[in-house]
Amino acid sequence: GRTRKYKFNVAVKKVTRLCYTKPIVTVNGRFPGPTLYAEEGDNVLVEVVNNVKYNVTIHWHGVRQIRTGWADGPAYITQCPIQPGHSYVYNFTITGQRGTLFWHAHILWLRATVHGAIVVLPKPNVPYPFPAPQKEEVIILGEWWKSDTEAVINEALKSGLAPNVSDAHIINGHPGPMSDCPTSKGFQLTVDSGKTYLLRIVNAALNEELFFKVAGHQLTVVEVDACYTKPFKTDTILITPGQTTNVLLTADQGAGSYLVTASPFMDSPIAVDNKTAMATVHYTNSVATADLTTTNPPPQNATPVASKFIDSLRSLNSEQYPARVPLTVDHSLLFTVGLGVNPCPTCVNGSRVVADMNNVSFTMPTTAILQAHYFNISGVFADDFPGKPPIAFNYTGGGPKNMQTMSGTRVYRLAFNSTVQLVLQDTGIIAPENHPIHLHGFNFFAVGRGLGNYNPNTSPSKFNLVDPVERNTIGVPSGGWTAIRFQADNPGVWFMHCHLEVHTTWGLKMAFVVDNGEGPNESLIPPPNDLPPC
Ligand code: C2O
Repeated sequence: GRTRKYKFNVAVKKVTRLCYTKPIVTVNGRFPGPTLYAEEGDNVLVEVVNNVKYNVTIHWHGVRQIRTGWADGPAYITQCPIQPGHSYVYNFTITGQRGTLFWHAHILWLRATVHGAIVVLPKPNVPYPFPAPQKEEVIILGEWWKSDTEAVINEALKSGLAPNVSDAHIINGHPGPMSDCPTSKGFQLTVDSGKTYLLRIVNAALNEELFFKVAGHQLTVVEVDACYTKPFKTDTILITPGQTTNVLLTADQGAGSYLVTASPFMDSPIAVDNKTAMATVHYTNSVATADLTTTNPPPQNATPVASKFIDSLRSLNSEQYPARVPLTVDHSLLFTVGLGVNPCPTCVNGSRVVADMNNVSFTMPTTAILQAHYFNISGVFADDFPGKPPIAFNYTGGGPKNMQTMSGTRVYRLAFNSTVQLVLQDTGIIAPENHPIHLHGFNFFAVGRGLGNYNPNTSPSKFNLVDPVERNTIGVPSGGWTAIRFQADNPGVWFMHCHLEVHTTWGLKMAFVVDNGEGPNESLIPPPNDLPPC
């Protein structure tokens, strides 16, 4: 591999969307931020310079960071933040991965505007395991608030209530021709008739699972979270915050313009509403169709469409890209995932919404856990995160159950190379959406899912241990469960959290500590000299 050097200048820039102008935090003045290109095996050096008033960190979402946890980026988990006026060089090698990932700020709500794609190409002379596209395009889905996003979450934390939802969804930074700002121009992808395009789709939205569709065209899914899948055709993809999906789009309609939509899972079955982001696919040398805005409605039955999509995902599992599913389990864990309510005398209702895993609402420490782990600093975290729900849980339908929470900075410790089966059980329906749980430092295999209670006696017999999809972010179904397996082959401290930012803020997060192995290449590398101090 080569060395790729990037400089990310974190700076404020004024941007106009929805007919309103506001200052936002950007990288290199761009929104969405610049795409980071690399090839599998490359060493990447990104110098991040903080020129804003906030503390900043950047996370390379989905990059495994084998033995280089110092470069992972979640604030107070693997590093203390880069303070205003300071810089830090993220230094990592992309090993055994190729595909689409993304980078984003991993502190406060800065990732609303501080994000961009990571495109990892295969090694030279290694073809894709699907017909080569004529062209590739990055498509980043996001959310936009007219007001300042830090103010949105700060007000919510003060009141104890849920934060305001975004004012728009966006495709490559633009909402498209929305009703409340009709002059807004959307992103346009120009295609040549007969050619095939690889769309690298990233959901960088803070809080919303999205459906993505191109009117009149089928999409062939070939990769998710930088792992190849068995190709399948669909007219709708479901993508949660934290997920990436590569699809092939063949321009087989000859001429014209076609509406592209990104619409929220939650708002369905309302047809095209003012939160559906719009873009166009336009055929070169053809006449643009005047008004497309009603030609690509979101799916009418959101939940079945979502389930069908999720159930269609399989690892490619070819000779060259085998699915290495752990067949034995050293740690069998069950984590409940849910929301709770804690007392808050100063809040509007005298209480605040919190979120937890196994009834633990995670408290951020003030020293990074990775440093505390590496230098044996005591008092920063406890390694007693419960491996099963401390309060017996039985889901019987309806609203949230099991809402008691305790606070703590508690982690779960794993021996190097041990295998883990983790069942994530949702504790109740408050909305039809899933909890997209993201694990840092690993890919995992999604071996099973179901509605209602996970049953340790009967559920595992239905697990797919042959070609389950491999990824880094998985939706835990509302009122249901998901089972994942991974091998703890990466020493360090690895955050796991809901990628709905509001839930992470409320405490739906924990961390695994993976100890060093005995071998020469089985321990965490020493921290770099410029690692920011707390
Ligand atoms: Cu994409 Cu911990 O996040």
